[in-house]
Amino acid sequence: MSEKFEREFEDVPVNPKAASTPTIGDVIDQRYSRRGVMALMGGAAVAATMPLAGCAQSVEENSAETADDFTEMARGVDQTHHAAGGLNDQVVIRWGDPLFDGIGAFNPMAQSVADQEARFGYNNDYIGFVGLPDDEQGRQRALLCVNHEYTIADLMFPGRVGREATAEECAIEQAAHGGSIVEIVNIDGRWEYVQGSRYNRRITTRTQGIELTGPAAGHPRLQTSADPEGRYVTGTMNNCAGGITPWGTYLMAEENFNGYFIGETDGPEAANHERYGVPGGWYPWGRFEDRFDISREPNEPNRFGWAVEVDPLDPQSAPKKRTALGRFKHEGAESVVAPNGQVVFYMGDDQRFDYVYKFVTAGRFDAENRAANRDLLDDGTLYVARFDADGSVEWMPLIFGEGPLTEENGFTSQGEVLIETRRAADLLGATPMDRPEDVQPNAQNGRIYVMLTNNSRRSEDQTDAANPRGPNLFGHIVEISEPDGDFTSTRSRWEILVRCGDPADAEVGAEWGPNTTESGWFGSPDNAAIDSANRLYVSTDGSEVRNQCANGVWRVETEGLERGNSRMMFLAPTGAEICGPRLSDDEGTFFLAVQHPGLDGEDFPPHGRPSTFADPSTRWPDFAEGMPPRSAVVALTRADGKTFSEV
Ligand code: FEO
Ligand code: CA
Ligand code: CA
Ligand code: CA
Repeated sequence: MSEKFEREFEDVPVNPKAASTPTIGDVIDQRYSRRGVMALMGGAAVAATMPLAGCAQSVEENSAETADDFTEMARGVDQTHHAAGGLNDQVVIRWGDPLFDGIGAFNPMAQSVADQEARFGYNNDYIGFVGLPDDEQGRQRALLCVNHEYTIADLMFPGRVGREATAEECAIEQAAHGGSIVEIVNIDGRWEYVQGSRYNRRITTRTQGIELTGPAAGHPRLQTSADPEGRYVTGTMNNCAGGITPWGTYLMAEENFNGYFIGETDGPEAANHERYGVPGGWYPWGRFEDRFDISREPNEPNRFGWAVEVDPLDPQSAPKKRTALGRFKHEGAESVVAPNGQVVFYMGDDQRFDYVYKFVTAGRFDAENRAANRDLLDDGTLYVARFDADGSVEWMPLIFGEGPLTEENGFTSQGEVLIETRRAADLLGATPMDRPEDVQPNAQNGRIYVMLTNNSRRSEDQTDAANPRGPNLFGHIVEISEPDGDFTSTRSRWEILVRCGDPADAEVGAEWGPNTTESGWFGSPDNAAIDSANRLYVSTDGSEVRNQCANGVWRVETEGLERGNSRMMFLAPTGAEICGPRLSDDEGTFFLAVQHPGLDGEDFPPHGRPSTFADPSTRWPDFAEGMPPRSAVVALTRADGKTFSEV
C-alpha cells in the first residue's frame, strides 16, 4: 500500500507500548513531504523535473567491482519506467486486461461489477510464479498469482473527484481487490498471458465461501449475522504480499483490513479493534453494506487479517483463511522447508512498532504427495520475535495456557490467542519494529531478510539495537541467521545488513557496502526476492521526494567483500511503488509489479497538482488519451540471454 496512503491515514501506532504523540520524526517527515519539498530540495527539485532523458539508452558505466551484468542509470523520476542497461523489459498484464473468453478490451468509461470480475484487478502487489509443464510446442508455461491490494477511486472512475461514492462504484472497487491467477506462456522470449486459460481466476472482496480453518474457525468472535457458524467469509481484501508454499499453493496476505470498516462499537470487541486500528474509515463501503459497519457487525473485522491459501491448480477450490498463522496486518508469508521437513513461514506485521513472526508447521512436507500437504497450515506453532541487544533472536511461542496467555489475561482458547495475536505478542514482550514488510528466507544458507521500511514515529529514546535510528525515515534491513540452517530454531542470531538512505548525508546515518554507487542507495525497502547466488533484490515504497528518486528495484550483495553493496536495476514511473519481485523458477525472468502509477501528483513537480482520472500525473503504461494509469506486471530479462544469477 502506498507510503502516502499510510502516512495520511494510518500515522498513529496502535501498539500501546509506543508513544503516539508527534515526534521530531513527524516534523521531519512533514518537512520532507509534499509541496514543502520544492524549496528544501533546491537544485535537486529542478533535477526531479527533468525527465531521465535517455536513461535506458545512454546509462553511465558502473565502475563498481562487481561483474557488470547490467549498468545503472542516474537517480531521478519521470512519467515512465526504466530498466537498467543490458535488461529487456515488457509489460505482461495490466489492470483491466480481460482474463476470460468473450471479454473485450478494457473500457474505463464502461466499468461494472461483472466486467471488473472478469478482468485483472487493480494495484498489483505480490507476484507468485507456479511453473506448468511446457506446451506441445515446447514453450515455457506458468501461472502468475498476483494480489490486488487496494483501489484509488479518484484515478479509477471518471468524474469521481468532488462527489460521493456510489454503491456500484464501491462494489466495483471490491471486484478490483483480491487476486488474479493467470496463465502465461513464453513465446520467443516474450511472456504473453493466455486469455481464457482454464486456470484463470479472480478472487475478490465479493468472493463467497472463503473458508475459515484452523484453531479459530467457528469461534463465537468470528460469527456474524450472515455467518452464524463463523466458518465462511465473503471476500478477502488488502492483499499485499504473500507466498507460494513448497506444495505450490498461493498465500494471499491480508494487510490493512482495518481501513475498510466504519462505525463504532463500545461492545466487547472495542479494545481489540483499537489494537488493530479498526475502524480506519478509508473506504465508504459500510454506507452500503452492513458487513463493513462495526456498529452493525462488530465481529466482521475479526474475519480479516489472516493469510489466505488458494490452490491455483484447482480453480473450483475454496480459498481458506488459515487462522493458525495469526491475525495481524500480514505483509507477506514466504516459506522454506527446514532440514527435518517442517515448513516455516516468515511474516511481518506492517505497522509502526509491530512485530516479526514465524509459523512452524507441526507436520512435515511431503514432496511426493501434494495432497498430503493440503492442511499443513492448520496445525503448528506461531512465534513472535524478540531481538536482543546481544545479537540473538528469541522466538516466543503464542500458545494458549503458556506464560501470560491465560484466562487471567482474557484468553480462553488458542482461537482467541490467534484472533488477538497482537495483544498476545504484546504480553510476551516482542520487540516493536520499524514497520516489518516482506520477510524473505534464503533456503540455501539459513538466512532471512527482514525489510523494515521506515518509522517516522520512533523517537531517539525509543531506539534499540535492532531499530537503531529515531526517527527512521529510510528504513533498514535486518538479517537473521538460523543456527545450522535449522529454520525451526527458537533461538537465532541477527545483524543489520544495511541502513538505508543517502550515505553522502551524514545526518541520515546510512550504512552500505563500500562500493555502493550514487544510484545504489535507496529508502523504504518493502518487498524482496533472493537468487541462487544469494543476492537480495529489494523493491521500494517510499516518497519520491524523500528518497530523491522514483521507487524501484535494487540488488544488494549479501556475502563476502561485496556485502551491503547495492545497485539500481529498475525505476518506476512517478507515483508508483514496486512490489512482488519474483524470479521465474529458472531465474531467466525477473517479474515485478508496478503499483499505483500516477499517485501523489502534487509531489511530482512537472504535474504539481492532484492526480485524477481526467488529469493524471502519468498515463503509464498506455500513454493513450482517456486511459488512466494502470498498475501492471513487468517482466525483465537479460539481453545477453543469461539468467539473473549468472555472472
Ligand atoms: Fe502493503 Fe506493507 O505494504
Ligand atoms: Ca507498500
Ligand atoms: Ca508492501
Ligand atoms: Ca518476497
